[in-house]
Amino acid sequence: MAGILDRFKETVEEVKETVSGKKVKVGIIGTGWIAEAHVVNYLKCEDVEIVAAADLIPGKADKFCKANGLSGIRLYPDHKSMIDAEDLDAVSVCTYNKTHAECTIYALEHGVNVLLEKPMCVTLEEAVAICKAEKASGKILSIGFQPRFDPNMKMLKKIVQSGELGQIYYIQTGGGRRRGIPTPYGTSFIEEKTAGLGALGDIGCYSLDMVLNAIGYPKPLTVTGYTSAFFGKDPAYFTDHPEYADVFSVDDFAAAFVRLEGGVILDFRISWAMNLDTPGDTIILGTKGGLRVPSTECWNGSIGGPLKIYKTVAGEEIEYEVPEKEDNVDNFYKKIRLFIDAVKEGGKPPVPSSQIIYNQAIIDGIAKSAALGREITLDIPEI
Ligand SMILES: NC(=O)c1ccc[n+]([C@@H]2O[C@H](COP(=O)([O-])OP(=O)(O)OC[C@H]3O[C@@H](n4cnc5c(N)ncnc54)[C@H](O)[C@@H]3O)[C@@H](O)[C@H]2O)c1
Repeated sequence: MAGILDRFKETVEEVKETVSGKKVKVGIIGTGWIAEAHVVNYLKCEDVEIVAAADLIPGKADKFCKANGLSGIRLYPDHKSMIDAEDLDAVSVCTYNKTHAECTIYALEHGVNVLLEKPMCVTLEEAVAICKAEKASGKILSIGFQPRFDPNMKMLKKIVQSGELGQIYYIQTGGGRRRGIPTPYGTSFIEEKTAGLGALGDIGCYSLDMVLNAIGYPKPLTVTGYTSAFFGKDPAYFTDHPEYADVFSVDDFAAAFVRLEGGVILDFRISWAMNLDTPGDTIILGTKGGLRVPSTECWNGSIGGPLKIYKTVAGEEIEYEVPEKEDNVDNFYKKIRLFIDAVKEGGKPPVPSSQIIYNQAIIDGIAKSAALGREITLDIPEI
């Protein structure tokens, strides 16, 4: 597409060291809820061998390996002891958000490629440190945004990049759940000491990735943010565990107004809990057309129905649905497979930190602006 979006296209492709001619030796850091999806999909890759797993909680990694049919796996009490003792090609960082940065940086500094779960981390400062470690290491770092690999998500990007909508100037995005604070396995998502961020980081990162990826990840400039926690701090919310309200120390709702380079405005809201089904669809407004992306009730980054395009054709205002695309390959498998391919072949990580640092900058900006009660200017260093 000519014009505004061209300036945001990535042009530099770093050459990475590759793993070839042997199985890729993988270690799992953090054996909680999401680690299972990593293991299940690594096991589908014949060129991968899971050799080690680590978790801070005594006995958890052992239980996890037994439950997932992993035998002969060496177990460790933390990421450092595993990385120090093993000759790993790659790790999956499946820890809660607060330890994403330290695990990722330690792995990269020890020459290990990293598949890092979303959100990238908690603060912009951590994201910068991760990017610096990646650059110094020459290793692959990919961030776990599997919704990107959905064919409808790819179509969304294709439509925007094609120029069909003209110059993009306004985006409304976000999503949310009426009642959906994630506590299936305890409190690691709702305590500041483990999660760092609430809905803002957990599912806000998906909304941001959906639209920023579509428009080519322009640099965010300023943010006015708001966060609240009216539901999480209410013992009546957690009917089975009213005590969770005592430890709830993150946001359950966030909203923001973000200015992006190139004159694009981003209007954002995200919710784990609210008195509404959805805070609205994602809309992308361009000078030649508009696009509606239906929301889902359980917002997790997926698209809730056919994309709808609004245009003026032959002087008539028309709208049409883009036929939904299906494929039989699980997005999570694609995330794992593409990471392994990048590790083996070098080249570009499937979800590069050079983009996701902007996602993290917005999230961090929203949290900081909300705490200050005013707009802030983002200062994102070149890495
Ligand atoms: N991509 C997705 O679809 C998806 C879905 C759910 C969760 N996630 C992300 O995955 C991450 C983990 O989520 P979860 O639900 O599995 O959390 P969890 O709390 O169930 O598990 C995290 C585990 O990491 C361990 N851990 C923390 N720091 C460690 C360290 N330094 N060394 C070893 N182990 C360590 C903890 O002890 C815990 O067992 C979160 O960042 C979350 O946002 C992604």
